[in-house]
Amino acid sequence: MNTLILFTSHHGTTRKLAFRLAKDLGIPEESVQDFKNNKNINFDIYDFVIIGSSIHVGNIPSDFKKFLIKNTNLLLTKQIAIFMCAMEKSELKIKEFEDNFPKELREKSLANGIMGGEYLFEKMNFFEKFIIKKISGSLESKSDIDYEVYADFVEKLKLSAQFC
Ligand SMILES: Cc1cc2nc3c(=O)[nH]c(=O)nc-3n(C[C@H](O)[C@H](O)[C@H](O)COP(=O)(O)O)c2cc1C
Repeated sequence: MNTLILFTSHHGTTRKLAFRLAKDLGIPEESVQDFKNNKNINFDIYDFVIIGSSIHVGNIPSDFKKFLIKNTNLLLTKQIAIFMCAMEKSELKIKEFEDNFPKELREKSLANGIMGGEYLFEKMNFFEKFIIKKISGSLESKSDIDYEVYADFVEKLKLSAQFC
């Protein structure tokens, strides 16, 4: 299956997982696309689209959200999977996931991976540091990627398709 991994990332965590997924699924690196650099995706050449984004202040980037809504019907003609990076507690992360990704895509998706995330203070601006210090009570970077969810996501995809 010709596969696209399309992601958005503020500080690099979703990007890191997108490239790790490519490696683990045997998808060439050229098929990993940063939405920030490429908003005119030609979906025709892909059978499978893996979508990844992080949550910031309750939302995925608004241009990415609009893009997903605009392309929902087209994406429904493909195999799809969705993953999300977020640091809220479980129930809130599920709500964030439901609020940000179109229902039809979530339901069609072969795997929905809510993978935790990271606070990377060295990459944050002053305002972001201020918010995250308030939430986490610390100025220390931390990684809370849920590798069990990640492994389960990879496993589900490996069972459902042959990637390239
Ligand atoms: C300014 C800021 C706001 C954030 N807001 C949320 C949020 O509302 N909900 C959440 O679950 N995680 C939130 N996070 C955590 C991010 O989702 C997490 O840092 C993620 O790993 C970022 O991935 P990225 O580097 O690919 O953008 C926030 C992080 C920052 C820095």
